[in-house]
Amino acid sequence: MSQASTVGVNVVKAFSSPGSIRLTSLPPLALYVHFPWCVRKCPYCDFNSHESKGGTFPEDDYLDALRSDLEQSLPLIWGRQVHTVFIGGGTPSLMSAKGLDRLLSDVRALLPLDADAEITLEANPGTFEADKFAQFRASGVNRLSVGIQSFNEAHLKALGRIHDSAQARHAVEVAANTFDNFNLDLMFALPKQTLAECQADIETALSYAPPHLSLYHLTLEPNTLFAKFPPPLPDDDSSADMQDWIHDRTREAGYERYEVSAYAKPHRQSKHNLNYWRFGDYLGIGAGAHTKLSFPNRILRQMRYKHPATFIDEARSGNAVQEEHEVGSRDLPFEFMLNALRLVEGFPVHRFVERTGLPMTSIEPALQEAERRGLISRDFEKIAPTPLGQAFLNDLQALFLKDS
Ligand SMILES: C[S@@+](CC[C@H](N)C(=O)[O-])C[C@H]1O[C@@H](n2cnc3c(N)ncnc32)[C@H](O)[C@@H]1O
Ligand code: SF4
Repeated sequence: MSQASTVGVNVVKAFSSPGSIRLTSLPPLALYVHFPWCVRKCPYCDFNSHESKGGTFPEDDYLDALRSDLEQSLPLIWGRQVHTVFIGGGTPSLMSAKGLDRLLSDVRALLPLDADAEITLEANPGTFEADKFAQFRASGVNRLSVGIQSFNEAHLKALGRIHDSAQARHAVEVAANTFDNFNLDLMFALPKQTLAECQADIETALSYAPPHLSLYHLTLEPNTLFAKFPPPLPDDDSSADMQDWIHDRTREAGYERYEVSAYAKPHRQSKHNLNYWRFGDYLGIGAGAHTKLSFPNRILRQMRYKHPATFIDEARSGNAVQEEHEVGSRDLPFEFMLNALRLVEGFPVHRFVERTGLPMTSIEPALQEAERRGLISRDFEKIAPTPLGQAFLNDLQALFLKDS
């Protein structure tokens, strides 16, 4: 069965006009730090990443801007403990060891960070120097997320990656030797990829016994080179075969698929990502970063200036936030479901009420319709997507749209 197909949804009326929201407790808080440069822009990528001209970028200016951004944000999160930090990109592993150390010192100086906080850094195999990663570890990074994508030479070329297969393997070895906790990102359904080639990639990844794997179906994102000049991709049946094989093989190898694309050994789920999927709060600093923060009677979303140079100027003059709005109570059910239904375990009923401040009755018609279509299972405690709901996740989530 293909994820690209639809379930033929005739969307139903989902809401009995919920009133204003009331949160009795605030959710856990995480910090996201965006680093917006890469050596080269990959043709499939729509993240806020910019080619660093000649491999250089204004590190000190950017770190100044990040500190200033964080200082401006503090009044929104006074007194709240931070449980996880994720430094993503872009390619934050381009940062110098000294720069990364300064960043984490600033974070620790300004925020109450848990002593055992999960601190993840995203890394590209084209930027791996063992010494630098040992220093990242010494500065406090305790989880590395390595963007492998594939171990196959031809596929790495087709994806426009800056590294070859040998560098990908070297990167995993450095990650495994330096970090007790690490993740490998791979993509499948790559241009001209066969099932056997996909299997070979996953087997190579498994041979390193990573605590966590993120296995993404390659998607053609708008405004990318791949969207403009689409490469020859495997058809829906072939990519569905790859997906099915991945589910079976990772389970056999001791990984639990706990989210659409995330697989973990026991107790090795990404705490930072779990917080997103559980509709927790996050402060996002850096170019183009997104923020979601809860208050007793409102939920606030912000976005920082996207272009690195603009962000640096604006943040240093005390104004890093480009857009900000309160999430309306009619938008909250869909926003919650966009995250919560990605988790295979679904969510406990009380979490919807706690995190949105809305009563369960506000989504009862949509839940009934989802159940009637076999997309969710539920009891008095818990709501979870069924295998059909997981396969047709977009259709399931669409039932909770305000105009549904
Ligand atoms: C923000 S990137 C950071 C990783 C790092 N910059 C690198 O590429 O090595 C996070 C991950 O998203 C995945 N990704 C990016 N674009 C994608 C796309 N169009 N389809 C599927 N996965 C994608 C890749 O696996 C990538 O490693
Ligand atoms: S290196 Fe990563 S973030 Fe940068 S363009 Fe490629 S996929 Fe995107």
